[in-house]
Amino acid sequence: MTRPVAPNPNAIFGYVSERTGSSLSKQQVMRLSEAVAARIGQRSEDAYLEHLKSTRGAHELAELMDSISVHKTDLFRDEGQLEAVRSFALLPKARERRPLRVWSAGCATGEEVATLLILLSETGADPSSTVMGTDISKAALRAAESLTFAPELMRRVPEVLRGRYFTPVKGGFELVQPLKERASFHRHNLMDSPYPTPVGGGGFDLIFCRNVLIYFSESAFEKTVNALADRLVPNGVLVLSAAEPLLKPRSDLELVRHAQSFMYLKRPPGMAPPRGRRRHPWCPCRPRTRAPSPASSGSRRRWECPRRRLRRRSR
Ligand SMILES: C[S@@+](CC[C@H](N)C(=O)[O-])C[C@H]1O[C@@H](n2cnc3c(N)ncnc32)[C@H](O)[C@@H]1O
Repeated sequence: MTRPVAPNPNAIFGYVSERTGSSLSKQQVMRLSEAVAARIGQRSEDAYLEHLKSTRGAHELAELMDSISVHKTDLFRDEGQLEAVRSFALLPKARERRPLRVWSAGCATGEEVATLLILLSETGADPSSTVMGTDISKAALRAAESLTFAPELMRRVPEVLRGRYFTPVKGGFELVQPLKERASFHRHNLMDSPYPTPVGGGGFDLIFCRNVLIYFSESAFEKTVNALADRLVPNGVLVLSAAEPLLKPRSDLELVRHAQSFMYLKRPPGMAPPRGRRRHPWCPCRPRTRAPSPASSGSRRRWECPRRRLRRRSR
């Protein structure tokens, strides 16, 4: 029989939250307290926490992390942004005729990896280009490795690409073998150093880290973006979701607006930062320079930073 939810598991919650980087939503706190209650056994909370912190407790911690992971994802998620990445980053890089290295950080169940492999192929990138998927969740990675997707996940995949890149199998559609061979999956917690490097060393040409940082605390967000940027080659591109704008990009990351989307270009060392405003024009975290006009201050709703709004809604 499992014990009822631990009465004062705050220290355990704090530790799991710190190790995942996430500020836990109400639902995550509930799921975590159920997982703790089911796993703590006869141990006291202090003893359980000590175990989580020890090397022997790594598996236990991974199980707790799995219990709060949000794996919502899709093939061809945010087509508008993908089109912007294709035309701004992938096409020009594919013309360089060298293998490209792409990383999907927080790849969940592999849909983003499959999408990136297809985009690489469609843009004519060197056939030995690779996509690495990493995630904190073992369960998600186990599902990702098959690169096989249920029919309902295929709805955004254009008909012509379905025929070209997927084979119908029992229960879904499997990515074709030549693309599967270019994928690799590894468990990596974005809170842990060192960050992965591509096979053969060097950095990544493109890093996707979408819909992961939205759950992170401010300090974890900043730390992660810095570490991801360090893993980009000069002129490499970092792609976050539309809800995860950088409020203050570091000086070598240039905000690029392209086809109604944005991404960040890592400038080569020694290149002067671009002149003018680098913050997102629509992000209200930017200090106001002028007082709002009387016409705009009356009935209009107050602006709210998209990152804050999404966090507030997920609570
Ligand atoms: C909502 S999914 C996003 C999947 C995909 N990137 C997309 O946009 O469709 C978020 C993923 O981030 C992973 N994640 C959360 N915290 C993480 C961490 N600290 N390190 C690595 N992955 C993490 C979760 O396990 C989950 O699979």
